[in-house]
Amino acid sequence: MEVVIAPADELAVLAAGTIDALLRRKPDAVIGLATGSSPLKVYDELARRHAEDGLSFAQARGFMLDEYVGLPAEHPERYRNVIEREIASRVEWAADRVQGPDGLAEDLPAACAAYDEAIAAAGGVDVQILGIGTDGHIAFNEPGSSLASRTRIKTLTAQTREDNARFFDGDIEQVPTHCLTQGLGTIMAARHLVLLATGKHKAEAVHQLVEGPISAMWPGTIMQMHPHATVLVDGAAASRLQLADYYRQTYASKPAWQGL
Ligand code: GLP
Repeated sequence: MEVVIAPADELAVLAAGTIDALLRRKPDAVIGLATGSSPLKVYDELARRHAEDGLSFAQARGFMLDEYVGLPAEHPERYRNVIEREIASRVEWAADRVQGPDGLAEDLPAACAAYDEAIAAAGGVDVQILGIGTDGHIAFNEPGSSLASRTRIKTLTAQTREDNARFFDGDIEQVPTHCLTQGLGTIMAARHLVLLATGKHKAEAVHQLVEGPISAMWPGTIMQMHPHATVLVDGAAASRLQLADYYRQTYASKPAWQGL
């Protein structure tokens, strides 16, 4: 696991640079997309590179991490709409090349199984962008999630609904109670995991993620088992890392030609 500590703008350039390099060597790459505020600067940077440097998503595929259950198709906070607004439409990514779990399906377990199959049929995810919840969830794998889980229905914790109420006029009652989420096993099958976290409120989750024991209580800790995981954090999110100086020193001495 590589930990990079840098200001948020630099982290976004690093993450976008990884996707840029991937798309230029593999135009039909499969990109794993996250919602939430953490990846927004990355999406801004990708949109800039699309507009100014000709970065093309035309042949790429996108798979989202998760989706709320039951939000109407046109709801602005439905994750498929969020992804359309924040990244897909800005890089002229055709709607049928970006998929998310279907939170409006009549048969939700069947939709979850079909989603895992669709990811596998596309050849698996090349780079997966991730954020982390204050309770340590990745995607919507809340504490207690099986470390081997596949895409499935989950109940959101009170903490997550409270955290996400800011997207729903500050009203927790409007935040759905259930979601469909890629499982931890699904996420672990991606070839490169790139997690972004900024702000002091993420410091404990980041400490557990990087330095805590692997545990379903902090679901992101499963990333310690991944052969290619990158954790991009600002100084505030890194403030509880015991080995912060070591991570800084390691990254500073990394040869410039070596990407993430
Ligand atoms: C959300 C999403 C996650 C996201 C996390 C952190 O609920 N389901 O994919 O990583 O919580 O969100 P944010 O980046 O807004 O802090």
